[in-house]
Amino acid sequence: MLEIDIVTIFPEVARAPLSESIMGRAASTGVVTLRFHDLRQWAEGKHRQVDDEPYGGGPGMVMMPGPFFAAVRELRREGSRVVLMTPQGRRFNQAVARDYAGGEVHHLIVLCGHYEGVDHRVVEALVDDELSIGDYVLTNGAIAAAVFTDAVVRLLPGALGDERSPEVESFSEGENLLEAPCYTRPAEFEGMAVPDVLLSGNHGAIAQWRLEAALVRTFLKRPDLLEDREFSAQEIAILRKWSKELENLIRVKSARCTDPLSGR
Ligand code: ADE
Repeated sequence: MLEIDIVTIFPEVARAPLSESIMGRAASTGVVTLRFHDLRQWAEGKHRQVDDEPYGGGPGMVMMPGPFFAAVRELRREGSRVVLMTPQGRRFNQAVARDYAGGEVHHLIVLCGHYEGVDHRVVEALVDDELSIGDYVLTNGAIAAAVFTDAVVRLLPGALGDERSPEVESFSEGENLLEAPCYTRPAEFEGMAVPDVLLSGNHGAIAQWRLEAALVRTFLKRPDLLEDREFSAQEIAILRKWSKELENLIRVKSARCTDPLSGR
């Protein structure tokens, strides 16, 4: 069982996307417990100030340490992990999501930065893991917290109706392949037909087609994913087949090539 406390000055921004559909059901069926906290409840003074100007000058405002320290002191317990959403963090990806969903961590406190950044003493003294959801800067860390939470929670046992779906999708365990294209009814739409093999009922042929399509898609769109990947014997066979077809094509075409720039 995983519990997640999200601490932000905009709790509704994180709550909204995590209340609908699969996330809403995961929370209501007890797959996960989500709590959304307004950081200002730990701020002091009449104005409940949470940010101030940066020491040393510069644009924007910096989140003060006091409210974060008070929040973590109240929420933390034995075994809690404190995560800060920040563009300075290590890159969040499916492998990191799997680690958090893996069952070792039972309680997460997710701190959201806003504005220019968070006082560095928060990072040094409170935070176990800084996570970035990508190389761009959001105005609102609660959006990043919602992305992180969604990706982790959907991997928890019982979160998805179909228990197999996390394993067959892009980036799943040991796969690092994009998914093959998918289709649904109608079989023909505005002159575009679904590939015959998917209508054939031949499960072996469908699996082979999907693997080939996944490989070619990954090769064309995300070749970086293939670099760190182990290939199965079946995948090597597919690559060999393509390589032969490509060599044949080049042989036939280059024999007929009349382009003066070709160097022949
Ligand atoms: N806050 C602002 N930008 C962010 C990002 N890219 N990832 C995580 N938190 C952020």
